Amino acid sequence: MPINIGMLGLGTVGSGVVNILQQNAEDIQTRTQSEIHIKKILVRNPSLPREVQGDFQLTDHVEDILQDPEIDIVVEVMGGIEPARSYILEALRQGKHVVTANKDLLALHGQELLETASASGKDLYFEASVAGGIPIIAALKHALAANRILALMGIINGTTNYILSAMAEQGRDYFEVLAEAQSLGYAESNPSADVDGLDAARKLSILASIAFNSRVTLKDVFVEGISKITREDLAYAAELGCTIKLLAIAKHQPEGIEVRVHPAILPMNHPLASVNGVFNAIYVVGDAVGETMFYGRGAGSLPTGSAVVSDIIRVIRTIQSGSTSMINCTCYRDLGIKAASE
Ligand code: NAP
Ligand code: HSE
Repeated sequence: MPINIGMLGLGTVGSGVVNILQQNAEDIQTRTQSEIHIKKILVRNPSLPREVQGDFQLTDHVEDILQDPEIDIVVEVMGGIEPARSYILEALRQGKHVVTANKDLLALHGQELLETASASGKDLYFEASVAGGIPIIAALKHALAANRILALMGIINGTTNYILSAMAEQGRDYFEVLAEAQSLGYAESNPSADVDGLDAARKLSILASIAFNSRVTLKDVFVEGISKITREDLAYAAELGCTIKLLAIAKHQPEGIEVRVHPAILPMNHPLASVNGVFNAIYVVGDAVGETMFYGRGAGSLPTGSAVVSDIIRVIRTIQSGSTSMINCTCYRDLGIKAASE
């Protein structure tokens, strides 16, 4: 029996998911011992021409997907808070596993979604919500699970890193490079979420919650974006042998968790200083493992699609094992939040 997928959205990320499932169908079938079939995709206007084709049905009626008993997994790549939240909750209640790339929604309603998934006995995976193609959530939940995570620090917004890199390296104009990042599908539908640091703050709240088994929300994060950074600032930094990056930092301090997003001057020999363009990188420090670093493309169709499809494969494995994974565990400790010192 094939595994049937219903997708909500066929934009930058959705197209990447379809492309990867088509391109790598044979390898994925070998790995999962399952045939994956994208059955239906929700879009606003099904009659518009699309870059990707397949034997799926385009629909503008979400019930076609949520009420279809043959659909096993719902992949939410439409973005925004509503109606995405209601659709995911309904999908879980209808007994479907859910994969989402929606960090805005997770940062705001993650607890509700995870509790609903847990109550429904279904999986809710969200690897693509942070750092595009970098498997940072799987690393924190699985590969580094032996550790007490002490700190993480990194570049977790591709659009702002693309802008700062082009301004620093080529002296290009802020607005011109922002428009380019939008045309490449890196920016959010409202790019002020990127440049004002909110996108990075949402991702940081997700990462810090997982890393510290705690509940860190967007309002806990000190946020400053890059809109005040000028070419002159970058030129002065370069004269000092430095560059400017938008950093996201989370630390487990004795006084509580400290979470902040802001531009920072880094010496050129700092490993994060050479992370350029759409690339992201995250340092994670664990008490046992010491320092680790994760690097890769932080946005874009195929890198983000890679994270979504890896989650789909994970869900298929839990379907095959006949149980849900513990990924939805909502257990947490209240560690308190330390006010960020500016
Ligand atoms: P996008 O290119 O704007 O695509 C959104 C898709 O969802 C479109 O196909 C759109 O339909 C559909 N859609 C949106 N609202 C809808 C509604 N109310 N009813 C029906 N269809 C609706 O967005 P994206 O860049 O792929 O991003 C999708 C999600 O992934 C967002 O949560 C984003 O934050 C996240 N994400 C994006 C990236 C990236 O690099 N772009 C990386 C990581 C995570 P139409 O095509 O008909 O307009
Ligand atoms: N707008 C986001 C970024 C997309 O530029 O990083 C990936 O989450």
